[in-house]
Amino acid sequence: METLKMTVESKNGLAKTMKGLVYGGPGIIELKEIPKPGIQKPTDALVKILKTTICGTDLGILHGKTPTCKPGTTLGHEGVGIVEEVGTAVRNFKIGDHVIISCITSDGTCEYCKKQMYSHCENGGWILGHLINGTQAEYVRIPHADNSLHPIPAGADEEALVMLSDILPTGHEIGVLNGQVKPGDTIAIVGAGPVGMSALLTAQFYSPAKIYVIDLDDNRLALAKKFGATHTINSATTDVAKQILSETKDGVDVAIEAVGAPATFDICQHIIRPGGHIANIGVHGKSIDLQIQNLWIQNITITMGLVNTNTTPLLLKTVLSGKIDPNQLITHHFKLDEILKAYEVFGNPAKEKSMKVIIEP
Ligand SMILES: NC(=O)c1ccc[n+]([C@@H]2O[C@H](COP(=O)([O-])OP(=O)(O)OC[C@H]3O[C@@H](n4cnc5c(N)ncnc54)[C@H](O)[C@@H]3O)[C@@H](O)[C@H]2O)c1
Ligand SMILES: [Zn+2]
Ligand SMILES: [Zn+2]
Repeated sequence: METLKMTVESKNGLAKTMKGLVYGGPGIIELKEIPKPGIQKPTDALVKILKTTICGTDLGILHGKTPTCKPGTTLGHEGVGIVEEVGTAVRNFKIGDHVIISCITSDGTCEYCKKQMYSHCENGGWILGHLINGTQAEYVRIPHADNSLHPIPAGADEEALVMLSDILPTGHEIGVLNGQVKPGDTIAIVGAGPVGMSALLTAQFYSPAKIYVIDLDDNRLALAKKFGATHTINSATTDVAKQILSETKDGVDVAIEAVGAPATFDICQHIIRPGGHIANIGVHGKSIDLQIQNLWIQNITITMGLVNTNTTPLLLKTVLSGKIDPNQLITHHFKLDEILKAYEVFGNPAKEKSMKVIIEP
């Protein structure tokens, strides 16, 4: 046994441990020396992280919103990297390939995957940095690599592509596509964090006439104007429903919730016009007060969901062609050693004027 262990160790190289950001329970995260992952199944790839980032969902885990994430889990579900090792069944990737890591892991073969509902893959879904160790580390093991990684074309701006792991497909699929944004529509996006901003950037593919963005943070609202919002409202100081109802015929065609709080869902249900769509993106840690007694007679559709990342390949083309520039969402850079500072900066956007932070080992 001892010999076997030594052989495996020498085959895998010298680095037996690595740094990773480990969740320790509500309010606790720690950058620790943890075992370096390896290939466990023939369909796995081991990816060396080049760049990762922090999501509002990670803050949610930290604030105890996601009890399914157990203490001891390495956080993070976004990033780009280099394939370091592949299992024997991996067909689409080889050692040295540069890849985008999808926040959703999927085998591509189960009933849900065949419907492109990768988020509900029977052997995957959102597991990275949630149910298995994630990307806020030097290395990450990616199960079902063939379907869970996307190749990066040579010469691409890899930093911008980190935004394709999660936020751009999330804003596009769960906000814009679920909300059925159409040319000429008046839409409202509640929440101008990275996810709301991604909905703002991708909504413009479909030419809405008026785009309201609502947040509490004036700095983020100013950025939203730069990114294409036609109107912004600070909900800390303004009665959003009153203002929108006075400026439109009878409300907005599409209201996109990109916060995950009862108050912001409430704004959506008070500004939606008959026949409109409320597209909820936010992760809610508790129930909301659904005004079904008013909404039913207005023929309102409410959608919600976990991103499938089925539109990542098409979004990649829009980024490569310069149709959208996700780089404008990146405000700060940190080394992995400084990740606790990165959480502080990402978690205090009004004070730090932060949006998306890039973390590099
Ligand atoms: N459905 C999915 O698949 C999916 C995927 C990724 C993220 N998310 C969720 O999307 C949400 C947004 O993510 P993010 O990374 O942009 O988060 P974030 O925390 O960076 O941004 C949230 C924004 O909402 C604003 N806000 C908070 N309370 C508000 C209020 N009462 N009124 C108006 N604005 C308010 C904040 O100022 C901030 O700008 C989170 O709930 C996250 O968990 C969902
Ligand atoms: Zn996320
Ligand atoms: Zn599947």
